[in-house]
Amino acid sequence: MSPKTEKLPEIIKLSQNENAFGASPMALKAIKANIDSVFRYPDVLHEELKMKLAYKNSVSPGNIVIAAGSIALMDMSIKAFVGFDENVVTPEVTFEGYKYMAKVNKRACKLSKLVNNAISLENVLATCDAKTKVVFIANPNNPTGTMITHDEMYKFMQSASSDTYIVSDEAYTEYVTDDGFPNSLEILNSFPNLIIFRTFSKIYGLAGLRIGYAIAQPDVISALRECWTPFSINNLSYVAAIAALDDAEYVEKCATVNAVERMILYNELMRIGFKVVEPKGNFIFVEFETPQEKNRICDMLIERGIFTRPLDHFGQDSALRISVGRPEENQRVIESLKQIRL
Ligand SMILES: Cc1ncc(COP(=O)(O)O)c(C=O)c1O
Repeated sequence: MSPKTEKLPEIIKLSQNENAFGASPMALKAIKANIDSVFRYPDVLHEELKMKLAYKNSVSPGNIVIAAGSIALMDMSIKAFVGFDENVVTPEVTFEGYKYMAKVNKRACKLSKLVNNAISLENVLATCDAKTKVVFIANPNNPTGTMITHDEMYKFMQSASSDTYIVSDEAYTEYVTDDGFPNSLEILNSFPNLIIFRTFSKIYGLAGLRIGYAIAQPDVISALRECWTPFSINNLSYVAAIAALDDAEYVEKCATVNAVERMILYNELMRIGFKVVEPKGNFIFVEFETPQEKNRICDMLIERGIFTRPLDHFGQDSALRISVGRPEENQRVIESLKQIRL
């Protein structure tokens, strides 16, 4: 075949932990039905969405604030609670947004060491000092995919200073099938310094619309809300999020397929000889001996049309994160990695 007629492989994007099946169909329907509303300014009170989320989580609307994704919630938490001479603590290999938002806000960010690719809450505690006002914990941890259990989180909250806000960022909660995953709402009843982040970007498939929420005690929610950018939730994200909450069937389907597929990826990658961590979310962490080996594998996957995530910005230069895709996409990842390893 001449280079001109050679068919390029279909691109598979597995670099941002999006829902491989796309957006919730009910959300899409709501967007189409409301498309003509975009000339109006958006609602700023978010009563309907807060009511629905309150009902779903058995809290009151006063326990909820809506924001333009968890990234906006990170920004609001730092602005609300961390002074310019104070600091934020987060693990060194975790979602890059925490460090990034601390930097944007010109606050210091201290990093704690992981142990065996898992967040060590002991190390997090040891990294905190009297000036630590917010701790960000991703659970499951992006990018390593490990999970903190309910008991571990509870003990951590007992040991942490009550003057420090602890954020449990549960972006992937709907994908978790492990019974040990924290019931953070229960923990919140005992610890008013806990803040729970959730997002519509992952299983609901609305990453491009930018909408998420925090659950916390009403006074914490009021302080966060004071740092909210007015009109930052647009009309279409708002109706999409409300509709997506009714799409239980879609959430269930995506979570079920993901749970099977992530274990296929995990087992197959191990069989091929890669060092992988058992995934609890919708992505898998693959660790290499050297940054060069990671770059080689990443480039060879790109040549085959598969985009994964090098983790240099996450604090790990010898690892890749691969989002769990649709079954046929995952098969292509496995086949490609088999060929590359030969
Ligand atoms: C742990 C974690 N938190 C937050 C986010 C970003 O969420 P959002 O799209 O709601 O800003 C991500 C995205 O990858 C994530 O992995």
